[in-house]
Amino acid sequence: MMEELAALREQAEAELRKAGTEEDLLNVRTRYLGRKGLLTGLLRNISNVAPDERPEFGKRCNEVKEDLSARIDQLLAGMAASKRNEGFLRERIDVTLPGRGVRHGILHPVTQVREEICRIFAALGFSVVEGPEVELDYYNFEALNIPKDHPARDMQDTFYIEDNIVLRTHTSPVQVRIMEKTKPPVRVLSPGRVYRRDSDISHTPMFHQIEGLLVDRGVTFGDLKGTLTVFLKQVFGEETALRFRPSFFPFTEPSAEVDIRCVICNGRGCRVCGQSGWLEILGSGMVDPEVFKNVGYDPEEFTGFAFGLGLERIAMLKFGISDIRLFFENDMRFLDQF
Ligand code: DAH
Repeated sequence: MMEELAALREQAEAELRKAGTEEDLLNVRTRYLGRKGLLTGLLRNISNVAPDERPEFGKRCNEVKEDLSARIDQLLAGMAASKRNEGFLRERIDVTLPGRGVRHGILHPVTQVREEICRIFAALGFSVVEGPEVELDYYNFEALNIPKDHPARDMQDTFYIEDNIVLRTHTSPVQVRIMEKTKPPVRVLSPGRVYRRDSDISHTPMFHQIEGLLVDRGVTFGDLKGTLTVFLKQVFGEETALRFRPSFFPFTEPSAEVDIRCVICNGRGCRVCGQSGWLEILGSGMVDPEVFKNVGYDPEEFTGFAFGLGLERIAMLKFGISDIRLFFENDMRFLDQF
């Protein structure tokens, strides 16, 4: 029986050496140490051992059992540890690798131009106000002296929401809303989105304008000229030549469009300025007495000037961009350049 025990032990150890998986180890454990296992079976046959050798045999059996059991536990623990390590290795982070870098956002070029213009006018005492993009026909047209049958309505390619509700075609309606609410003096600047049914290399259905309005006693065309000259020279450079050209808007009288010397060809004539050497930058004029009457201002007491300009156009000229649609495609390769 003693030899049988020794052989069993040898055999069990040989099997443990071969065991490659947790399952192999558990199988060895069941085969030898389980309730119907080989070692348990040997102990059960202790009656075959001579009575005086039984204590010694029992003791040996228990030793073998404990040794095997301890060995199997140890092997199982080792396997669990190496499994954990494999997991750690898989998830290992190499902290010495260079970082991917944080992408810095930049302000959209149209936002940059808007902020620059607002800054310039803030220094001249103008405050920024806003109005609704979905606007009543009254504010977008009627109160600005553009009656229903006026040809200027066709020029504006209006999006209609309902018969008397439109997407505003310009920021000028904000003038009216502000004057309705406040008494002169008024000095406001109103940036915002405007909408027209138009789309090509220089038009998008949505674009941005800034409207300016100054009303007080004794405001003259000279004030308009001085203010817009200071403004445009700050945006395009002190040496930029300007010209004020008579024009027409229903809400100003007299009206003027302001051109700057072409920033691309410096006046020699090119494709951008249509060979004229000049670029049209904004519309302006002295607020028409009809508009004052609509908001309850006395045109005998107050005068004022207003102007309006497109932000995309300014940004295109400043940054040398030839297609207005680029502003709205959100291509990072384009936007990253500003
Ligand atoms: N609202 C005009 C437009 O969208 C621009 C404009 C012209 C605004 C003359 C004015 C102005 O305030 O006085 O084309």
